[in-house]
Amino acid sequence: MFKTYMYPNLHLMLQRHIPLKSLNTFGFDVEASLFLPIADEEILHNVWKTNLLSMSSPLILGGGSNILFKDNYPGLILQNLIAGMQVAKETENHIWLRCGGGEVWHNVVMYTIQNNWGGLENMSLIPGTIGASPIQNIGAYGAELKDVFEELEAFDMLYGKMVTLRADDCAFAYRDSLFKQNGKGRYFITYVTLRLNKNPSVNVKYGDIANILEQWGISKPGIADVSRAVIHIRRSKLPDPAELGNCGSFFKNPVVSKEVADTLCATYPDAKRFDQPDGTAKLAAGWLIEKAGWKGYRRGDAGVHEKQALVMVNYGNATGAEILSLAGEIVEDIQAKFQVNLEMEVNTR
Ligand code: EPU
Repeated sequence: MFKTYMYPNLHLMLQRHIPLKSLNTFGFDVEASLFLPIADEEILHNVWKTNLLSMSSPLILGGGSNILFKDNYPGLILQNLIAGMQVAKETENHIWLRCGGGEVWHNVVMYTIQNNWGGLENMSLIPGTIGASPIQNIGAYGAELKDVFEELEAFDMLYGKMVTLRADDCAFAYRDSLFKQNGKGRYFITYVTLRLNKNPSVNVKYGDIANILEQWGISKPGIADVSRAVIHIRRSKLPDPAELGNCGSFFKNPVVSKEVADTLCATYPDAKRFDQPDGTAKLAAGWLIEKAGWKGYRRGDAGVHEKQALVMVNYGNATGAEILSLAGEIVEDIQAKFQVNLEMEVNTR
């Protein structure tokens, strides 16, 4: 590995031409022109003193599990390696856990379960780092990050200073937040503090969880049981990136008006529809893609997963451009067949 120390006084270990194949879960064989691991806040302050942030299109990388590289990345990648988990505060019923942005999300979940602190169990096994979790307000099986989020600390790359953002500042919505909108690319998330429950109750409303627990003969589940059930369901449906390149859900579930949902369901009574409190309806993109005949489709090494149509997969040597081109065809086809617009969940670079 070729390392350069272009800023010796600032102790910046800037690297050139770093392969990204093992750093993106799609497994695309691309490289970054410049690469800088960030293990603490001081490095961010030092980077700010150079012209790197303004000159080299910085991109923050967590676990690489929600990014599609179309090609080599011509700028600077800042890899979030900030570690650590500490209890920041405790009351009779709650505990606040402050976690370094580079911690692996699932490791944080497992740590909370070992301590019987509730809130994360339904989000077991979501890939990626905790620093990336607020970006798209990760969620699964009836839970979302915003339900347990207290605050985050971030380095504001526009003004070169640390900021603390509370939930209200982050504009959390379904797979969306400030960090995908006005604040895109601006904040390097250094720490995330979660508010967890010391006397947890479980949420097994999501159909499959209750069924699995019943099959296992567990009538009074604790959070560890729910976590095991979620892990079981995820492993049965979602491909393991270590075996098959993918980024989890490639598309968002489209949120449409009641009228659009009614029209769709009149034609296809088996369509999956989840009515929202605000009168809109969320449709299952996986159902739409499967109904349109794409589930399990493969072209070259780019494909649609055979067990979950919401997931695009790289069978080996697909490029980001090939996956994107196939995804584009699917979007057009869903529009033509169902008059529904699919939006990508994954970030492209
Ligand atoms: N469905 C199909 N065909 C498919 C896939 C799904 O008909 O190929 C139907 C299912 O039968 C079900 C409905 O669609 O009735 C919903 O499917 P599922 O429970 O698998 O969830 P999803 O809506 O497809 C979302 C999240 C997942 C999360 C699951 C479970 C989004 C974009 N995706 O998927 O998140 O694990 O719910 O909560 O909201 C991720 O973000 O990477 C991710 C995997």
